[in-house]
Amino acid sequence: MSGQVYVISHPLVQHKLTLMRSKETSTGTFRTLLREISMLLGYEVCRDLPVTMVDIETPICATKAPMLDGKKVVVISILRAGGGILDGMLEILPSARIGHIGLYRDPKTLVAVEYYFKVPDSMTDRDCIVVDPMLATGNSAIAAVDRIKETSPRSIKFVCLLTCPEGIKAFHAHHPDVAIYTAAIDDRLNEKSYIVPGLGDAGDRLFGTK
Ligand code: URA
Repeated sequence: MSGQVYVISHPLVQHKLTLMRSKETSTGTFRTLLREISMLLGYEVCRDLPVTMVDIETPICATKAPMLDGKKVVVISILRAGGGILDGMLEILPSARIGHIGLYRDPKTLVAVEYYFKVPDSMTDRDCIVVDPMLATGNSAIAAVDRIKETSPRSIKFVCLLTCPEGIKAFHAHHPDVAIYTAAIDDRLNEKSYIVPGLGDAGDRLFGTK
């Protein structure tokens, strides 16, 4: 089974992404743009959420109208840069439940090691959106989804801002059932595992740490 990749080519997404790529863009503007873009990506990710008809009364009459069905969606942020996408997602899913997963790369083995994991107690029957701006080598995303699958959610989708062929290939080799939503697929990874042309270190640009 080969995994699905959705590239959100909407002109507003592409315009904002170009501004984010520019090295001249300030930390504050980068943060604002990531929140705005994440709302637009979130809109696409939620496109096939199930709805159910409920009874309501408008000021005019009683009627039936659609509402999101089932338990609240969970958005899981991969620390630390995932927080930038999480903020935008919460603008359109204000009642979503939130999870966090922290991973670091062991400098010797290069394996992703978990240092933090907190998700809602009951994950079964929940739709889960995992967020991290850069799907580069795929190592963190693979490890995060491995761990999330242990909690048996109803579905998992992965949202990033940028990815590359290497990241998609690695991720879908492990998780062909998890669709990727992204604003762009860039050319390649460089020798330091940065996406090219990319936008640099998403965490540093978001938090102003460099
Ligand atoms: N993480 C980043 O922040 N940027 C990249 O280009 C790759 C991974």
